[in-house]
Amino acid sequence: MAAPDFVRAKAEGRKLSMVTCYDYTFARLLSATPLDGILVGDSAGMVMHGHSSTLSVKLDLIRMHTEAVVRGANGKFVVADMPFLSFRKGVAAALDAASVLMSAGAQAVKLEGVSGHEDVIQRMVESGIPVMGHLGMQPQSVNAYGGFRVQGRTEDAAREIVRQAALLQDLGAFAVVLECIAAEVACQITRALRVPTIGIGAGAGCDGQILVLQDLLGMNTDFHARFARAFLDGARAVREAIAGYDEAVKAGTFPSAEESYT
Ligand code: KIV
Repeated sequence: MAAPDFVRAKAEGRKLSMVTCYDYTFARLLSATPLDGILVGDSAGMVMHGHSSTLSVKLDLIRMHTEAVVRGANGKFVVADMPFLSFRKGVAAALDAASVLMSAGAQAVKLEGVSGHEDVIQRMVESGIPVMGHLGMQPQSVNAYGGFRVQGRTEDAAREIVRQAALLQDLGAFAVVLECIAAEVACQITRALRVPTIGIGAGAGCDGQILVLQDLLGMNTDFHARFARAFLDGARAVREAIAGYDEAVKAGTFPSAEESYT
C-alpha cells in the first residue's frame, strides 16, 4: 500500500484496516498480516510512556519510534504522527518537522485539525509529503475540550466537522481519520469525500478503521473506550505466561537440560 492506494481502495469499495504501532517487534508481526497500514501515533506518549495525554510527546520521540517501526514493517505503509504544535509554528518549521519523520522512513504524516494550518497542509502535499488528516476528537486539544470527549454533538459542531473534512480533501489529504464522532456524521462525511475516512469511535460507515494496537490486543488494563474492541485477552495471556515462567523458575524446571549448554 501507498497513499494513492488508499484513495483507490475507496473507489473500489475496499475497506481499509490500520493499527498503531510503536516498536520493531510488533511491526515485524504486523508486517506478516494483511493490514493496510501502520500509524506511529503520538498515543505512544500514553501507551508506551505512561503520560496522561499526548501533549508531552516531542518530535524526537516519534522519530525514534518511527525508525524502529519502519525497520520491522518490511515495506508496509507507515504513517507518522506530527506531535503537538509541531505543525503550528509556520510552514518552514512544519516542513522541517515532517522532513525528520519522512527521513525516519515514514511514507506519510498525520496531523490533527485543519483550521489555522491550511497553508502547512498545502505546502506538505505540494512538497510530496502525503498528509492524513485527523478530525473529530483531536487528543492534542484535550485541554480545550476539558477531557477526552465525543465531538460534533450539536448540529453546528457536526456541520463544522463535515466542512473541515471537505477542506482537508481540497488541500490534498489522502485520507482523514475521524475520531469519536457520531456514526451518522461519519457516514455523511464518508459519502461526501472521494478520499477515505478512517474511523476510531466513529461507527461502521467509515471507509476503514484504526485501533490502538494495545487496545486491540486487550493489553490496556487502565481504560476501556466503548469502541476499542479487544480481539484478544492479551493482559491475561501475558499474566499467565509470566506466572508460568515464575513457577517453572521457582520449581527448578526451567531451564531444562535441552535449554542448557553442555
Ligand atoms: O495517536 C494515535 O494513536 C492516533 C489514533 C488514535 C488515530 O492518532
